[in-house]
Amino acid sequence: MYGMIATWRMALEGIEKGAQVLKENGNVQDALEVAVCDVEDFEYYKSVGYGGLPNREEEVELDASFMDGDTLAFGAVGAVKDFANPVRIARSLMQYDANNFLVGNGAEKYASSHGFERKNMLTERAKIHYENRLKEMNDELKPYSGHDTVGMVALDQDGHMASATSTSGLFMKHPGRLGDSPVCGSGFYVDSFVGGASATGLGEDVMKGCVSYEIVRCMKDGMHPQEACEKVVHQFDEELKRRRGKAGDMSLIAMNNQGEWGCATNIDGFSFVVATQTCQPTVYLAYREENGKMRFAEADQAWMENYMQTRTAPLVRK
Ligand code: GLY
Repeated sequence: MYGMIATWRMALEGIEKGAQVLKENGNVQDALEVAVCDVEDFEYYKSVGYGGLPNREEEVELDASFMDGDTLAFGAVGAVKDFANPVRIARSLMQYDANNFLVGNGAEKYASSHGFERKNMLTERAKIHYENRLKEMNDELKPYSGHDTVGMVALDQDGHMASATSTSGLFMKHPGRLGDSPVCGSGFYVDSFVGGASATGLGEDVMKGCVSYEIVRCMKDGMHPQEACEKVVHQFDEELKRRRGKAGDMSLIAMNNQGEWGCATNIDGFSFVVATQTCQPTVYLAYREENGKMRFAEADQAWMENYMQTRTAPLVRK
């Protein structure tokens, strides 16, 4: 059995490519790298890689991670500027026993000295978003909530598992701000003996619950990925509301080492992508029912067309 699961519709084309790698008996890490790079390279996705929205000083700072479920090695970068594929840098950092999580200037020095491709990641379209947002906010800079991390978990035919994430983080974030995506246990976790999970949402809240690790722990206790996702997301959402009066957006995907998958969210209409040996790459939408239970619907043609039209529609300066 092989399989991949990813947050958001934006992962679809990447998952198609990654699933092909797995179908041809390729390595799980190669499949994930192909898939995440595809999302990073598409300039119309404004929260990952090229075209990602900048911080409040109009600089694109990117976070990414990679984790090997066999050895539990992970690599991560935070607040990296001017490199084309942060996920590749994160994967490379897994090989060491120390210095696995590098941020800012240190991460850029590493990437530069190891030959990773440099690229100005701020697009004209992202600049227009920034300028429009600045005008809307009348000088009061607040992070914009619309931000979508791509997070993936995959299983190859030899039973190896891995996970990867990539994001530009919160739009209008403070320079140097990191979210959950490069943080092991929060934005991602994977163990080939059990399964893996990955998160998208408000990093500041996701990190309070180490929710990716928590889902893997529940799977290790014998839960199906769906049961684990629903339990962890629902209970933590309730707990945040009880203790803090509110909970940020939080959506999790998971897959176990049998290729069974799950997803839970505290928002309505969260999209995610699944591909397995028995299921072509498919976009699902997740809706909350009673007590954190989820209902899934396959995205229809109209939804898919509207999605791409909205992402690529011409943008004008206000
Ligand atoms: N979940 C991505 C972030 O908060 O940066």
